[in-house]
Amino acid sequence: MAKYRIAWMPGDGIGIDVMDATRVVLDALKLDAEYLHADIGWDFWCREGDALPARTIKILKETDCALFGAITSKPQTEAKEELAPELQDKGLQYFSPIVRLRQLFNLHTNLRPCKSYPGNPLNFRGTEVATGPNAREQLVDLVVFRENTEGMYGGVEFFPLPQSVYEALCLNPKMKPWKEKGLENVALSTRIVSRQGCESICRQAFEFAKKHGRKRVTLVEKPNVLRETGGLMTRVFRELAKSYPGIWADEANIDAICMWMFKNPQDYDVLVAENMFGDIVSDLCAGLVGGLGFASAANIGDTYAVFEPTHGSAPKYAGQNKVNPIACILSAKLMLEWLGEQAMADRVEAAVAKVIRERKVGTYDVGMKSTTMEVASEIARNV
Ligand code: NAI
Ligand code: MG
Repeated sequence: MAKYRIAWMPGDGIGIDVMDATRVVLDALKLDAEYLHADIGWDFWCREGDALPARTIKILKETDCALFGAITSKPQTEAKEELAPELQDKGLQYFSPIVRLRQLFNLHTNLRPCKSYPGNPLNFRGTEVATGPNAREQLVDLVVFRENTEGMYGGVEFFPLPQSVYEALCLNPKMKPWKEKGLENVALSTRIVSRQGCESICRQAFEFAKKHGRKRVTLVEKPNVLRETGGLMTRVFRELAKSYPGIWADEANIDAICMWMFKNPQDYDVLVAENMFGDIVSDLCAGLVGGLGFASAANIGDTYAVFEPTHGSAPKYAGQNKVNPIACILSAKLMLEWLGEQAMADRVEAAVAKVIRERKVGTYDVGMKSTTMEVASEIARNV
């Protein structure tokens, strides 16, 4: 029997292209793994009314972890229209299979490394450094810890508001402006966080910093406005920081850090944030190190983890063997690390860095013409 059982979920569009490419690299490493194909995505919604079929959940429960490509998702009205005719009147509701995965397997931690590899033409060039061909790239090497199950993405939303919720809210005098606008004109999305959720994400950020010799952990919040949720997160962060005396713990507001990150990204080390702020700041960071073709992510729980590039299914490039496979290959690197195969993870990263530096191959996003498979094969040759 193979040492690892890995659920293999290409999903839709370029998810399939980048997963095929990543497999070439894993095969070159001779990772002792069995890969179990699992269905996920838009096709299964349309044909079966479920983007995350029960058989997929069963496979996930029987594997060590999963690698996931990308899926297509569309708004509720289009979701209904594209359902197979025999499913149209069944009252089915589309749910994002990724959000469901995170909740079902309690994948509470989203980890996104953002590292610029020297030679990538898409690396951020600082504004104070001269622009033009001689501009010096500013190398970024940071990791974002994003709480993955609570906060603004907890899914507790209303439109229209149930009468009971509306009445309860209207007891608060601050509701006056909306009360005047009338129940039928008000939508509500909530931001619910728990002490446990805050503690877990902050602790993981500090533990990561300690383990990897990182010097600074920055909390990204907005407690001056979001007094209760942001306040709880900030208090938990400050309390935990006391147990890590060697690490500089500081705080930044989400808006301010977007500005600072754009000016001095190399100053940051480990960032920790609630779900939505983590989503925002990690896309900003991805932009500084080459964009969607380079951004990898891990969704980690206590006993299971799902690894994925952060990009979507890019339908216009689907099946064209054209997009950058590096984001997915770096996600596989995160998977190897989580499995405890650090030496293999290091080989993958070194090969990626070498291929970027040499610029013998590269996809369209870095201004070159190689195919997805050519880039993957060159990385595979180097591992
Ligand atoms: P997207 O990430 O699929 O693509 C946006 C653009 O980024 C592409 O048109 C392409 O120019 C570029 N791009 C993305 N990945 C690339 C790669 N590996 N190499 C080179 N260039 C790349 O985002 P978009 O267009 O907003 O969404 C398309 C579909 O994907 C939607 O249905 C959306 O809901 C879904 N989506 C799924 C995600 C997931 O599965 N985790 C995440 C984001 C979007
Ligand atoms: Mg995002």
